[in-house]
Amino acid sequence: MTLSVPGPAEALLREHCELQVLGEILAPERYREAIRGADALLPQLRDRIDEAALDAAGPHLQVVSNYAVGLDNIDIPACTKRGVYVGNTPEVLTDATADLAMTLLLAAGRRVVEADHEMREGRYAGWRPDYLLGQEVTGATLGVIGFGRIGRAVARRAALGFSMRILAYDPGGVARQGDLDVEGCSLERLLMESDFVSCHVPLTEETHHLIGAAELASMRRSAILVNTSRGPIIDEAALVEALQKGVIAGAGLDVYENEPQMAPGLAACTSTVLLPHLGSATGKTRAAMGELAARNVLAVLAGGAPIACANPEVAQRP
Ligand code: GLV
Ligand code: GLV
Repeated sequence: MTLSVPGPAEALLREHCELQVLGEILAPERYREAIRGADALLPQLRDRIDEAALDAAGPHLQVVSNYAVGLDNIDIPACTKRGVYVGNTPEVLTDATADLAMTLLLAAGRRVVEADHEMREGRYAGWRPDYLLGQEVTGATLGVIGFGRIGRAVARRAALGFSMRILAYDPGGVARQGDLDVEGCSLERLLMESDFVSCHVPLTEETHHLIGAAELASMRRSAILVNTSRGPIIDEAALVEALQKGVIAGAGLDVYENEPQMAPGLAACTSTVLLPHLGSATGKTRAAMGELAARNVLAVLAGGAPIACANPEVAQRP
């Protein structure tokens, strides 16, 4: 296990395994040294589990149980090839992440951070009709890019809580949502028609820079872009330029292309709300992620597959 996690995970693992907590994020070379001979790995999203790491761990390795729902830090085909299961932590962080996407949408739309600075810096000179006007949220159109668990949870909050009209684009298609009024459409149409756009696709080769200069230029000048998925979904340098030139009105970001760095110029864009990757950051959710990640490990060590498994085909191997 790379870092200690809140909740019952460590106690659960210690009941059945010899647990080593590295306690820090190691550089790849030191990480490879540290995991030599492991039966199970419980990395977090800053650890890169690639061919070299798998080779270093060696033939005893049975499972890589990521402390995250996103799996872009793990070479899944390389794991599958070696008969190593990959687990992750879906479901348990859906609500916390959807809540944070709404927080960013509201905060960027209503210019909350900019306004907070006005107060703290003593610039508030009394109520005025034209002071710090933002974008109306209720009744606006929300475009949800990536209509999986988190995208759907955001759509539900926006539709039921804020009477927003929902457009959704998903590379795999958008299924009807029963009680929820959602219109599936192309990415092009979503970008042209939405007042708010929120990104919820996993990071893959196909989704890298899904939103670049051309996509930003096709959005409304009043639009707000929200990202709680992975930074490289958006071309961050192009976003900075779009914000500087008023191509779109603002952005609410929780993730960055090159964490913990930000693109030059982003910090100076007052129309942004910038958070340090906090999507799942509540005590309850981080504990639940730990418990699921631990149970994914224990399920494999007991001869089964992870409860949440990215490569169930490993079971078919001789
Ligand atoms: C966090 O970013 C996660 O993928 O769980
Ligand atoms: C605002 O404070 C209002 O009373 O309209």
